[in-house]
Amino acid sequence: MQIHFLSPAQSSATTRARLIAPDAMPADLDPVLAAGAKASRFAGKAGQLFEGFVVRGDATVRAVLLGMGASGKERAASLEKAGAALTAKYLTSGETVVAVDVSGADLTGEDVASFLLGARLRGWRWDTYRTTQKEEQKVSLTTIEVVGAPEGTEAAWAQASAIAQGVEFTRELVTEPANILYPESFVARAQARYEGTGLVVRVLDVEEMTRLGMGALLGVAQGSVRSARILVIQWNGGEAGAAPVAFVGKGVTFDTGGISLKQPGGMEDMKWDMGGAGAVAGTMLSLALRGAKANVVGICGLVENMPDGNAQRPGDVVTSMSGQTIEVINTDAEGRLVLCDALTFVQREFKPRLVVDLATLTGAIIASLAHEYAGLFSNDDTLSAGLTAAGNAVGDRLWRMPMGPAYDKMIDSPIADMKNIGGKFGGSITAAQFLERFIEKGTPWAHLDIAGMVWADKAGATWDKGATGYGVRLLDRFIRDTAE
Ligand code: BES
Ligand code: MN
Ligand code: ZN
Repeated sequence: MQIHFLSPAQSSATTRARLIAPDAMPADLDPVLAAGAKASRFAGKAGQLFEGFVVRGDATVRAVLLGMGASGKERAASLEKAGAALTAKYLTSGETVVAVDVSGADLTGEDVASFLLGARLRGWRWDTYRTTQKEEQKVSLTTIEVVGAPEGTEAAWAQASAIAQGVEFTRELVTEPANILYPESFVARAQARYEGTGLVVRVLDVEEMTRLGMGALLGVAQGSVRSARILVIQWNGGEAGAAPVAFVGKGVTFDTGGISLKQPGGMEDMKWDMGGAGAVAGTMLSLALRGAKANVVGICGLVENMPDGNAQRPGDVVTSMSGQTIEVINTDAEGRLVLCDALTFVQREFKPRLVVDLATLTGAIIASLAHEYAGLFSNDDTLSAGLTAAGNAVGDRLWRMPMGPAYDKMIDSPIADMKNIGGKFGGSITAAQFLERFIEKGTPWAHLDIAGMVWADKAGATWDKGATGYGVRLLDRFIRDTAE
């Protein structure tokens, strides 16, 4: 979707929207339109939309009233909702251009950028594989014209647009099916997208990972004909030589469960078991596009988990890069096996000042938190608070879960240093305890279990059903608030 900034005289759009504050109908509204809005109980609530028609000269034009909600601390979220309501309504309406008059609504440039971010994000679709859509199903809306924007809007939009592009890239990666997106093609897609951004990319292949001793990650990958990769993405926008923040993502491009095979019902969802890696890849794009003044390294651990004659078996013992050994009780608890080697690698290679990993790690976190919060597990209160605040600010919410020695004991193994599953209960926590065993002393670390957040069965505030892009806005905001 294109965003153009115009003066009122330059816009010839025949659909024109205005932003309306709660119970504050402008005095200059067409009286028929105002009466219609009143009769329809339009009150200016965030995301409310009223459509009418008015005569302008010789033409009849569509007039849209968009509720922008109260100007409290939820202002940015309300404006995003208003923008999203506009695109949701006109995306496939047949209309190609919608003008929004933002003058007279007492908005700052930042406010308008929030509105546009909501509009842009809600308008994202991935119709690549649909070849038989009827005309009326196709996206028609290509452009939003912003009329009467206050000073600073274009600069604010340049920043917000970088975030939108990161979220969109993550959604694209998450949406692509596993026959298209596998470790090597994930890497290729990222490299192509990063061209000209200043991001520095390094790729570890199986040979190099073998040399590094990544027996846990490679054990997961050995049942697949798709070769594993680690993608390292660096953004050096901060002080030269300053320790980076590290983001690490689980990138299981398809999770069948391996020999501990999953039930067939819903297994297609496991194409998005790379949502953590997708969020990391999208975040790095956003940081680069907006020129973030921080050093950040992103690591994507990319494998496919398949059953096969060469697949690892329940009971196998593997040696991780850290030297610790793992008894693989359940080959479906593969995410932690991928992450542990990625975590050791990033700590040894980059000496980061803190590490945040993101993973669609457990079904149990969905049982706990449904699709409202991702689970947050951490060894550091300051880091937890920073991530939670960033999440609240942008709507990617986090809820902190407990950890401790009693849970840690649950993954002791009789034959190796640990096993890859705990008991029947507390499955998200024992998964986090497993990861913590790979964090070096003194390194602040947080693990975000995003299994409930990556994919939506119904449309939300700024997304349609499907890939949400969860995590990009969270991590971008976290960097902005704590590292720049
Ligand atoms: N990728 C899954 C977790 C998952 C489940 C993500 C549902 C999104 C939706 C993960 O690899 C997995 O299979 N976890 C197991 C762990 C168990 C074997 C200890 C699970 O949650 O059942
Ligand atoms: Mn699994
Ligand atoms: Zn998985």
